[in-house]
Amino acid sequence: DPVFTVLGIETSCDDTGVAVVRSDGVILGEALASQYKIHEQWGGVVPGLARDAHASVIDSMVEEALKKAGMASVAEVGAVGVTVGPGLEICLRVGTETAKALATTFHKPFVAVHHLEAHCLMARFGQPLDSREPKEEATGTSASSPIPPQARFPFLALLVSGGHCMLLECWGVGRYRTLGGTLDDALGEAYDKAARLLKIGTGAAGGPAMERLAREGDPTAVVLPVPMRGKKNLNFSYAGLKNAFRMAVTRLKEALNLGEEEDFDPKTKADLAASFQHVAIQHLEERLTLAMKESESRGVHTLAVVGGVASNQAIRARLQVLCEKRSLARRLEKEQERIWDEASSENKGGGTMEVEAPLPHWELVVPPPRLCTDNGVMVAWAAIEKLRLGYSDVVEGRDVHARWP
Ligand code: KG4
Ligand code: ZN
Repeated sequence: DPVFTVLGIETSCDDTGVAVVRSDGVILGEALASQYKIHEQWGGVVPGLARDAHASVIDSMVEEALKKAGMASVAEVGAVGVTVGPGLEICLRVGTETAKALATTFHKPFVAVHHLEAHCLMARFGQPLDSREPKEEATGTSASSPIPPQARFPFLALLVSGGHCMLLECWGVGRYRTLGGTLDDALGEAYDKAARLLKIGTGAAGGPAMERLAREGDPTAVVLPVPMRGKKNLNFSYAGLKNAFRMAVTRLKEALNLGEEEDFDPKTKADLAASFQHVAIQHLEERLTLAMKESESRGVHTLAVVGGVASNQAIRARLQVLCEKRSLARRLEKEQERIWDEASSENKGGGTMEVEAPLPHWELVVPPPRLCTDNGVMVAWAAIEKLRLGYSDVVEGRDVHARWP
């Protein structure tokens, strides 16, 4: 498995990301242009403006990533990968046309990347091809190993971003089973809308602003309904929580005699943010508990959290506890079963003692925060995973897919 390099390009939404990544998971050069300032005043991503912004910076982003990697041109990379969907069609086309032209000009293999697959595969960033020989177990805390723990197939992925909220079982590159999705809003979207109500941030800056503010607040101060309580399926719903939050904000303003444009005192604001986040995560925990029970029957015991919202530290911490709880519960269930089996085999007279392999623990894998949100590295990495299995795509006739299951 010789080491090679890939140039990855991402333009599916409002970030122009380009990176040169080596197949062993070393980022050689990276460039990222956020359009935050452009869309801020509109309260959402304006596709036409986004396309123009991508188009105006794409060439300089490619140049910057190559330069940081110490490369003079695309002639020095091994292949070109690009997000071809899903996303905003006219934005996807900027990156895709650029990548197609570069691959053609420099006679490089071309890989068409699925944006959501790229998010999921970041849980494996740096994972060697032969998963039986993992890189030395990294703890993420030891200074000697900068590489965070990497997921091996199969793993359960919670994909939470501004546009998506899904549970997937990942069995291999290109082999995914959707367990659940959102019935309405995505989690990142709910965070962003809650932030707007509190006037603490617009667009995708809302999520991080909510997380920061929530740290100062009391998560039990405002009672909000946990979505889909008692429903035994693996879907998400955040519209109800969003509306309940809006009503809570309105009610509190009335109770405090605040005008429409008046702001809460800092403490109340923090309490609101903390309460929102508390319930938002509780919904994740409840769906995940069900999904983990289902997936572990198929031999899955790794949970990966990916997508922009996975950069949230409160979510990481709570899901770490969830993994520990589930591991413990599962061991107790097994122990109970064993006691029953023993009792029933004794009644039948005799029975053999089998030595069982220890139960694997649920392991949580979350990519480093800056690699959770959209970037060029994840596209390059997804292309690397495909290329080392022998997959690549033809440039001719390749178009983008705004929608792509
Ligand atoms: O993956 P991403 O960069 O773009 C999409 O594909 O959607 O995700 C962006 C989303 C935004 O909704 C943003 O508010 C959210 O991820 N996000 C966060 C945090 N960081 C980013 N949400 C909560 N807490 C965070 N720390
Ligand atoms: Zn994304």
